[in-house]
Amino acid sequence: MGEAHEGAGRKVNRRDFLKLGGAGVAGAALLGAAGCGGGGGQGSKGPVDITVAFGRESTGTLAKLISKFNKQNKGKIKVTWRHMPSDTGQYFDQIKTEFQAQKTNIDLIGGDVIWPAQLAANGWIIDLSDRFSESDRSKFLPGPIQSMTYQGKIWGVPWFTDAGMLYYRKDLLAKSGFKNPPKTWDELKMMAKKVMKDQGIQNGFVFQGDKYEGGVCDAMEYIWTNGGNVLKNNNSNTVIIDQPGAISGLTTERSMVTDGVAPQAVATYEEPQCEPIFLGGKAVFCRNWPYMYGLIPQYKKTIKPEQVGLAPIPVSDGNHTHSCLGGWNFYISALSDSTKQDAAYEFVKFMTSPEQEKAFALNASILPTLKSLYSDKEVVSKVAPIRLNKTAIQSTRPRPVSPYYSDMSLDMQEQFNNSLKGTTSPKKAAKTLQGQLTQIIKQAKNA
Ligand code: GLC
Repeated sequence: MGEAHEGAGRKVNRRDFLKLGGAGVAGAALLGAAGCGGGGGQGSKGPVDITVAFGRESTGTLAKLISKFNKQNKGKIKVTWRHMPSDTGQYFDQIKTEFQAQKTNIDLIGGDVIWPAQLAANGWIIDLSDRFSESDRSKFLPGPIQSMTYQGKIWGVPWFTDAGMLYYRKDLLAKSGFKNPPKTWDELKMMAKKVMKDQGIQNGFVFQGDKYEGGVCDAMEYIWTNGGNVLKNNNSNTVIIDQPGAISGLTTERSMVTDGVAPQAVATYEEPQCEPIFLGGKAVFCRNWPYMYGLIPQYKKTIKPEQVGLAPIPVSDGNHTHSCLGGWNFYISALSDSTKQDAAYEFVKFMTSPEQEKAFALNASILPTLKSLYSDKEVVSKVAPIRLNKTAIQSTRPRPVSPYYSDMSLDMQEQFNNSLKGTTSPKKAAKTLQGQLTQIIKQAKNA
């Protein structure tokens, strides 16, 4: 993406910021009461102007839905999309800086599933438990609802969900004599090598290995599918990363490079770098989220839908498949005045209505969060990731839900990336993380 990667400086900032948690809550509560949204709302005659923050949506569907809302609400509400970095960590850092300074024009955050605990703990978003009633909540998938439940309250409304999947080139596999996609990591390597050799394909496998949040998602999948984990029972306070399963997961990830299946540069790839490689016809396999399927029409010179298959994340022998749970929700700023918060909620209701979620799913190839759409014939038959990969969608696991998650993530990003690059051994990376994560959890308990 050409944007700066996070360095040590960022880490210091985030640790400092976490210590500010308490002050943040008090400050934001005061501001919320005083109303500090600024501009175009209360008292003025024109429409209520609200700014919604979100990263990249390359099919143009989101822009169309925003125009549709603005037309329907002409004179009442006007939504402007503020484009944020597509790298979730960089996006979060920007929000963090603005909310810490209590100076932002963002009324509504289209934000990652991993953010609510931290946004809520700092008092930057409002509790939606009353507005978003239990009967409304019951219409949504439980995973995303769970992701925004913090201290018994609901801090967002689910927009779309995500599950890691294996994209594969059906045509290339068939030509080299493989009828089905790989079920295990060893099969993936074997097939990739054969196709690369037989057909002169440059890359066997590309995935997100950079030092950023996506690198954590991918490494988690390697760890889970090797029978390991980061926290005991996936979400407790007991760190169990320094154990054979997790070490074997990181070893499997590194072996993609040492076995010549993934390029060394995979340690710098994020989602946008994987797209032109796989959709440009230069890789046999790619791990990515459902959205990438929706970009196939933009690459029609190099790829056609019938050449692309989707499969669950492979496993090491004897283990179960697991996909990292991702996704994006709507969070309302606690710094906006109540008129803007109300207008923002109107937009949230519009975007998460069956009609709009369906349009988004059909046109942008994303997974809706409304349960009913999973039995909608058109959605099931036209949204390829749903049609082709139910197993992946049903095999998701969340990243830890914690107001300290981003701190934990920064350490994981660094160690996973070092292990993938080969500058640290998988064993040493796991051992270092065991100490670092335990320390973060201990500090959190004493905070
Ligand atoms: C996707 C997921 C999000 C995750 C990110 C990592 O956008 O939906 O949850 O954090 O990828 O790159």
